[in-house]
Amino acid sequence: MSTVLHETTTAAASTGSTRKGLREGAFGHARALACRECGHEVELGPSYACPECFGPLEVAYDFPNVTREEIAAGPANIWRYKALLPVPSDIEQSPNTEPGFTRLLQAHNLGRELGIDTLWVKDDSTNPTNSFKDRVVACALSAARELDAKVFACPSTGNLANAVAAAGARAGMKTVVFIPSNLEKPKQVNSAVYTDHLVAVDGNYDDVNKLASEIAGEEEGWAFVNVNVRPFYAEGSKTLGYEIAEQLGWRLPDQVVIPVASGSQLTKVDKAFRELVALGLVEDKPYKVFGAQATGCSPVSVAYKAGTDAIRPVKPDTIAKSLAIGNPADGIYVLDICRRSGGAVEDITDDEVRDGILLLARTEGIFTETAGGTTVGVLKKLVETGQLDPTLETVVINTGMGLKTLDAVADRVGPAATIAPSYDAFVASGVL
Ligand SMILES: Cc1ncc(COP(=O)(O)O)c(C=O)c1O
Ligand SMILES: [Zn+2]
Repeated sequence: MSTVLHETTTAAASTGSTRKGLREGAFGHARALACRECGHEVELGPSYACPECFGPLEVAYDFPNVTREEIAAGPANIWRYKALLPVPSDIEQSPNTEPGFTRLLQAHNLGRELGIDTLWVKDDSTNPTNSFKDRVVACALSAARELDAKVFACPSTGNLANAVAAAGARAGMKTVVFIPSNLEKPKQVNSAVYTDHLVAVDGNYDDVNKLASEIAGEEEGWAFVNVNVRPFYAEGSKTLGYEIAEQLGWRLPDQVVIPVASGSQLTKVDKAFRELVALGLVEDKPYKVFGAQATGCSPVSVAYKAGTDAIRPVKPDTIAKSLAIGNPADGIYVLDICRRSGGAVEDITDDEVRDGILLLARTEGIFTETAGGTTVGVLKKLVETGQLDPTLETVVINTGMGLKTLDAVADRVGPAATIAPSYDAFVASGVL
């Protein structure tokens, strides 16, 4: 059966129906897709915009009772939270990359350096393709399968393409991934090893995204993970929030610092924390959410500082290419969450991004990519400017791996000396 994945679902389904032809429980305990703006609900399917007001749709659930023990008894990957995701109960049976349950490290050295009493790094660079994107893609893959998609695809700033290409390969699905042609070489290779269909587009991410929407409107059977199955995809980011709470011993941190491109990840960590409170899995308490951008692509930070909700799209010009989305879909929700929670959105220069990469590497032995350099650099700036309280327990999220953006710091590091292979030469080098 061929599925038209770009059709807009118009039938209201506040009763919680799913599309015909779907198997029972295809989306787990998800009830419907609900509009973030007007609350209107539509049936579960490949829809992403509200038929009433064009607002973004997100997954709404009728959650069952879930206990900490049930979650702890699950696998050491994101499927331990499957009851809280739009995936079927037999999800572990379908080949996927099984991301998640990455390490949460206490960052004593970095904390001391920045003057933060209790600091943790949630290190998502250890996922299967070395970024948090494996989480969202795993959920998108489940939706694509249940919707009988023929092509698994995405527009990407790099990491998403890596994750889609790898997961599609595991699933035996045809993948087509679109990237800006000026993307870092390692990210290009990291997609091309998994798929013959890496398409480099002469344009920036926003151009690539527009092209993807066009293809989604023309072609049948394509699941663009962050376009026409975006509501399911975005739910994968909740698992980052769940894991932070579980790994802290079922507690929420006081403050969390998260990089912002489209803003989806930040909004979903907040959603995860609120769900855990509503489900009684953690105690309710205030927490502050901070967003991090690079100055060369900082539309959300600019709006935050101007005290406005109007996010002006920008043309990105930064080494933080994975964050280079000039027209962020969820930017307005990032502003709302950061303001409401008492957090902030801040940005730093490309030099500070490089400094951030080296700071994390040299204090904690974690090599992050430019997105993490941005996050750590912003964390430093937030402390220095008094926006982040250093006495409160803080989690900083490292979303990606430094080997993918080697060029960012390649000129700043290297051998202390090049010497002949003799003890005398070593002594003469003055390295120690
Ligand atoms: C490493 C990394 N961190 C953060 C982000 C930002 O994610 P979001 O678009 O959900 O804000 C991206 C997006 O591609 C990324 O690749
Ligand atoms: Zn609406």
